[in-house]
Amino acid sequence: MTGPGVAWPRRAGQLELRPPTRVDLDGVLSWRNRPEVTRWLLRTTVEPEAFAKAWLDAVEDPDQHAVVAVLDGRVVATGSLDVHDGMGQFDGDVWRRSEGLLGYLVDPAYAGRGFATDIAGALLDLAFHELGLHRVTAGCFADNHASWRVMEKLGMRREQHGVRDSWHAELGWVDGYTYAILAEEWASPGA
Ligand SMILES: CC(C)(COP(=O)(O)OP(=O)(O)OC[C@H]1O[C@@H](n2cnc3c(N)ncnc32)[C@H](O)[C@@H]1OP(=O)(O)O)[C@@H](O)C(=O)NCCC(=O)NCCS
Repeated sequence: MTGPGVAWPRRAGQLELRPPTRVDLDGVLSWRNRPEVTRWLLRTTVEPEAFAKAWLDAVEDPDQHAVVAVLDGRVVATGSLDVHDGMGQFDGDVWRRSEGLLGYLVDPAYAGRGFATDIAGALLDLAFHELGLHRVTAGCFADNHASWRVMEKLGMRREQHGVRDSWHAELGWVDGYTYAILAEEWASPGA
């Protein structure tokens, strides 16, 4: 959200990141349901109104940092960092709201230009340098090479190779990966 301690817009390479407006989301919807985008997503085709509402609701939620990425006035990608509880014994509470879950989508017309890596890097900066999170994770289908390359380029570690743990509507049970990085492992280029 735009609230406590988090200032927008911010740069991510050539991109400007900021919370979405309804007009921005219509821009996202012009490419969001294309087959090359939905192929490896868990939420495949989305219903436009529900999609827009969920993103606009996220803007109001202090634990969701959901942004669009703008290049020359055009929305070319989205990014999200959702804060949630880590694992921990109930004797303390340092694990509460200690983890982030990262997500990104790029308009296929702008793929392969490093934009997902720039967006994810900016969200890791936010997670570790501003929100004080302990750990950030992200998951993908094992066959989504472009997605796990983004995570590896950022120094994230493949912590789980789930064997046929993930259901794909066309392919059936397929392998999934979970990646993670800790605050002390994150060193952004500018840090
Ligand atoms: C996955 C996605 C976010 C990548 O965005 P992007 O801006 O193209 O990513 P980047 O340019 O930062 O990096 C992509 C990397 O994957 C590589 N890559 C791209 N397509 C690939 C493929 N088919 N096989 C192997 N590697 C591939 C690129 O070469 C690059 O790695 P490199 O720099 O080592 O060469 C984008 O393709 C997308 O939105 N896909 C649809 C939605 C999706 O799958 N989101 C992730 C859900 S987990």
